[in-house]
Formats: sequence, structure tokens, C-alpha cells
Amino acid sequence: MRSVIDILDLSVQELDDMIATALDIIDHPAKYAHACEGKKLATLFFEPSTRTRLSFTAAMYELGGYVLGFSEAASSSASKGESVADTAKIVSCYADIIAMRHPREGAALVAARNASIPVINGGDGGHCHPTQTLADLLTIRRELGRLDHLTIGLCGDLKYGRTVHSLINAMCRYKGTKFVLISPEELRLPEYMEKDVLKAKGVPYTSTADLDGAIPDLDILYMTRIQRERFDDPDQYERLKDSYVLTSEKLKAAKERMAVLHPLPRVNEISVAVDDDPRAAYFRQALNGKYMRMALILKLLDEAKKPAPPAKAEEYTDRFRCRNPKCITCVEQELSQQFRLTGEGKYRCVYCETAAEE
Ligand code: NCD
Repeated sequence: MRSVIDILDLSVQELDDMIATALDIIDHPAKYAHACEGKKLATLFFEPSTRTRLSFTAAMYELGGYVLGFSEAASSSASKGESVADTAKIVSCYADIIAMRHPREGAALVAARNASIPVINGGDGGHCHPTQTLADLLTIRRELGRLDHLTIGLCGDLKYGRTVHSLINAMCRYKGTKFVLISPEELRLPEYMEKDVLKAKGVPYTSTADLDGAIPDLDILYMTRIQRERFDDPDQYERLKDSYVLTSEKLKAAKERMAVLHPLPRVNEISVAVDDDPRAAYFRQALNGKYMRMALILKLLDEAKKPAPPAKAEEYTDRFRCRNPKCITCVEQELSQQFRLTGEGKYRCVYCETAAEE
């Protein structure tokens, strides 16, 4: 059964095909209005969401399907101690496809391994958020007309910002991408992203704390919120929360066609006055998310009709215990530990990608 847990579960060809489907949906919505008639999407949101959950819901309605689910862990049996694995098995009895968000890293992978229907990751802790990346890709394509040869500034919370991790993984595969990583020292990109992704793939990038100095070179400025809910130390959040504020004044130094993206919600990192600048693409980005989620639901439900291709044999070791307190294996004790050898010769947890410590 095909699920989308990580953006790398989709090839570049598939991303391009989905963008083409989304553009066709925009031009011919009536053609798709009955495409998922009789099908049910379960939205399992163990963590707050406005855009992701509601755009999945709107997407399924616009495809003629139904939606069931919950929007907080407290209203599901998770509050009684039910595991993610059991929840996924149960929901497979009632729905045809799952969109899920959970505060633990790796939770969506656990769900996918236990469900008998496709699972879409709507965010697993600070780890990844592939459907936000789908929204980002369609936005970049519509705003700038291309996905290659772009210099992308990623600004804010690069440590806990899961949308950043998925976007880097996607854009690394397009020719000529360069990244400028703009963050305070404490919120730099996790080492697995820097070593296993950027360095291992030889993608050019620079790191800086200086947004003003970076702006003139950028084709895209991707602003992010400092992720308060993921900090262990509230004082650290207080110190870092106002690190960056994009203002109209700062935008004067930007290219005329630079696009400002933000997965939203914004707190104060983009001043409201910027909304009127034609380069502010973040509200259009939220709408694009609905079209790409429509394209993804269509694709996965269509594939689910066909016999599943044989699963790839993967080699794991259970020699280590994951030390990431935010990993799903740290709360659901009966999950087996699984570590895979990565390109740079390190073992990493398959759920959260944290490096094993010997
Ligand atoms: C993002 C998320 O949940 O990671 N929001 C979203 O899905 N659009 C970004 C955020 O919460 O800061």
C-alpha cells in the first residue's frame, strides 16, 4: 500500500505530474467534482491545524468524497492510551485513506506500517511535512514559472521547522538549487539534514544569521515561525522568538520578482504591511495546498485500486535505542528499534533520523 510519509516517497516525475494535475484542477474543477464519490478520507489530527486539516477536508469535498476524523488527541482514544498502530488498524476499517498529524517524530511511519489503506503525513513532530512541500512547489512554479536554478533563503526556525526539512529534500532534486540558511545559531538545521542531505548530495548552501545581507540574492524567501511548542526550555523560546521580522523596508533590497513564502501560521515574523506587496505569496500558497492535496488524494486512491508492487527489502539493525525524546519509539515502548545505515556511514533511526550513539 502506497503512503506518503516523506517527500522523498514521491519521485520528481511524480511531483511534476501532480503539479500538472493541480493546474488542470484549477482550470477544470468540474471534471474532478465526482472523482472520489463514495470514498472516505479520515483526518486524524493529534496536534492543532488550520490549513492542513481544512484544506484536506475541502480537497476531499471538492472531489465528491466524504470526510471523517478528529481534530485533537483529547477527543480520540489516544487520550485513553491507544497506540498509533492500533488507531491506524481501526481507522482502516472505516475509511479509504488517512491524513494524519502527530506531535511525535515517526508517528506517520508507524501508522503507514499498520494501516491497510494509504497514509499521508500531515506533519510528524519537528520531522517532516510533505504535503506542505507540495503546496510550496506549486506556489514556486506559479509565482516564478520554474522549479530549477533558484536561490532559496530559508529563514527562522530551521531546527524544528518540519516544512523546511521537507522543502530542502524536494528542492535538492531540481537542477541549480542553492540554499541560504538564515537562522540564529541555536535554531540551525538538524545535523542529519546538513550531513545526509546537503553535504551528501553536494548541494550548494551557505549559513548566516543575517537576513538583511542575504535578501538581495534570493529568488525565494521562505519565512518560518519559531516553533514554540517544540522548545524544551521556555526561556530559550523567549530569547529567540523575535529573531526575524520581515518588513516592507527590508523588502526594498529584494529582487523585483522574489517570492515570499510562509507555511503559516505567522506570529510576528512577517509584518502585516508586507501582505500588500505583490511578492507576498503566502495566502496564495495556502490555496495551492488544497489543489495539491486534491492531486495527492486522487493519485493514492487510484494506486490503491491496483495490486501493490512488491515491497523493497530494507536492512535494519536493532542494536541501538533511539535517544531522541521526541521520537515515537520513546513513548510507544513496544515498537521495535530500527536503525538503517545511511550514505555517510552512520546508523540513523528509521522513524526520526536521529544518529545512533554507540
Ligand atoms: C506548519 C506546520 O504545521 O508545520 N503549518 C502548516 O501546516 N501550514 C508550520 C507551522 O506550524 O509553523
